[in-house]
Amino acid sequence: MTIDKKFINQFVNVTSKAALSSYFLVGKKDKIAADQAAVDSMRTELNKIDMCGEIVIGEGELDKAPMLYTGEKLGTMNGPNLDIAVDPLEGTNFAANNLPGALSVIAIAEKSNLFNAPETYMEKIAVGKVEKGVVDLDFNLKKNIENLADYRNKDITSLTACILDRPRHKKIINELEELKVKLKLITDGDVSGALLVSNPKHNVDIFLGTGGGPEGVLAASALDAFDCHFQGRFIFDNENDITRAYKMGIVDLNKKYELNEIISGDSIFCATGITSGDLVNGIKLSNNEYTSETLVTHKSSGIKEILKITDILNQ
Ligand code: FBP
Repeated sequence: MTIDKKFINQFVNVTSKAALSSYFLVGKKDKIAADQAAVDSMRTELNKIDMCGEIVIGEGELDKAPMLYTGEKLGTMNGPNLDIAVDPLEGTNFAANNLPGALSVIAIAEKSNLFNAPETYMEKIAVGKVEKGVVDLDFNLKKNIENLADYRNKDITSLTACILDRPRHKKIINELEELKVKLKLITDGDVSGALLVSNPKHNVDIFLGTGGGPEGVLAASALDAFDCHFQGRFIFDNENDITRAYKMGIVDLNKKYELNEIISGDSIFCATGITSGDLVNGIKLSNNEYTSETLVTHKSSGIKEILKITDILNQ
């Protein structure tokens, strides 16, 4: 089974409208309000779609944001059963502080094909298309970098690694510096960070480090359509998360998830820019119109493109 192409524009409309709603709160120093606006818009637009949708990854407790909660049913209930992962506002700090890179993101898969990720951190690694065994979460950093340089036939010093700039990554960042790998340190937004490996135009050879688990699943959904390599491992480091993981049916807490264990079958991914960033431009207003840019992928049809849409405001 595949997800009908007719849904692509409908989901692009969902993230575009959510991005627009959030855009009006850009720079207002209120990340909760900016998130709430995107959540409300997403719910309204998703409910117009002819589908039996269910949120498998929603807004979480991590940032105490108002939710499109896991298990929430959306759509007219007249259409295919679809699993939905949302991050209505990815990069809440970016939106609140009017910085580049805020996105509105959604991933859709056929029922039971999208991993229900817990609200914990995930250790991640992503590279463009490679053969199995070149880059692996279980290898040490040096081996991954050397293997990747060999495989790409590049000098290590010409490789670029993207990683969240966090104290927890100090050791990895130091080691990358010692290896003379170029760094792209991002302050937030690791969905976008991971997606930079999907196109050589971004000049990022490897994305790595620990970030949100739900963000990992969202990134994996798009990377699947780009035929990239992604692995993730959840981090359960407190009793609450461990109990919740067992309740969710996770048996092996240290399991390394391959991309096809996170998402399989057909999928649609949409990421619309709220503020302009590496992946897409943000919302632009002019007179009574707005223009949005959305990175969209549809696995079965091979669509991987940036869609620019201009629409009337207040429609
Ligand atoms: P929010 O949009 O929810 O603020 O998340 C931003 C983000 O940078 C994610 O992209 C990333 O996965 C996560 O936060 C990293 O978490 P932390 O800030 O705790 O390192």
